[in-house]
Amino acid sequence: MNSAKINSFSQNQERMFFLKRLPIYLTRSLIRKMKGYERSKEFVKENYDIARQKFFESAVWEKANSLEEFELIDFNSLKLDTNPLITCKLNGNLCKTRVRTFIKLANENFKNLIQEFIQPDDEIVELGTGFGYRLFMLKKAKIKNKMSGFDVSESGIKACKKMDKYFKTNIEFNILDLTSDFDPSILKNKVVFTYHAFEQLNHYTEDVIKKIIEGKPKQVLHFEPVIELYKTKISDIASKVFLHYNDYQDNLLTTLQKFERLGHLKVTHAYRLGYSENPYNETSFLRWTIIDITSLKKLM
Ligand SMILES: C[S@@+](CC[C@H](N)C(=O)[O-])C[C@H]1O[C@@H](n2cnc3c(N)ncnc32)[C@H](O)[C@@H]1O
Repeated sequence: MNSAKINSFSQNQERMFFLKRLPIYLTRSLIRKMKGYERSKEFVKENYDIARQKFFESAVWEKANSLEEFELIDFNSLKLDTNPLITCKLNGNLCKTRVRTFIKLANENFKNLIQEFIQPDDEIVELGTGFGYRLFMLKKAKIKNKMSGFDVSESGIKACKKMDKYFKTNIEFNILDLTSDFDPSILKNKVVFTYHAFEQLNHYTEDVIKKIIEGKPKQVLHFEPVIELYKTKISDIASKVFLHYNDYQDNLLTTLQKFERLGHLKVTHAYRLGYSENPYNETSFLRWTIIDITSLKKLM
């Protein structure tokens, strides 16, 4: 890690940063609660469709000559040549750094974790792939496994297919709504991962996990916000309020542990990764494997 490029906040500065914004998120969260705000699947799909259509129309990937250049696109401005200073989390600490420094470290961490758990013959499947960024990054890292990505957003998948041709990556992309009655056998024996996709599916966690279990994947890796791993320090409290304000994921680990108690799966890894571009929405890592699905039908 190039520490020269990362300016860490002191503990006091960090506390002040989160304390200052806490009342704002708390108030907003209460107002939303009173208004009955809910992150429904229709709301999520509509929002992502709009954003992905904009991405598709920008064809920003055509400005990149390689996946190495594509990695560093500023997805907010849809430009290749910007490198803004951001306040983010790295190694569990709040810091200021250039967005490219953050991206490189986060992508390296992600790639290392995937590599740790895959065999050369495994097929890798991403659920909620967006515009395929994580899969393209695995290709960039020269991971040769067969890969496929699914997402509910048609414009997102349209962009994925264009990019796949452009970068010649040979990844298969298809539309799939995780909240629909999809055929889970597409996951059989595969290494399935999600990256901030369950984040969007707070009210559907149990149903989607059930479907994944039914599909009998070889193993499942989640890169998601996991509120159950947060503690009582001020930054964690502020993050909890932020997640509730957005109605983001708040029950993934609890749901997996419920299925674990019922004997269907084993959670082998559950820990915080300590980084996030948005300091309130830290990514954690969960891994689980199937134990037995014979009694799952009883649950449904
Ligand atoms: C925060 S984005 C993450 C995208 C991608 N995994 C990444 O890391 O760049 C969440 C993704 O979940 C997808 N998503 C939301 N609801 C979904 C559903 N019901 N079925 C499939 N994908 C869904 C969205 O379309 C969006 O692409």
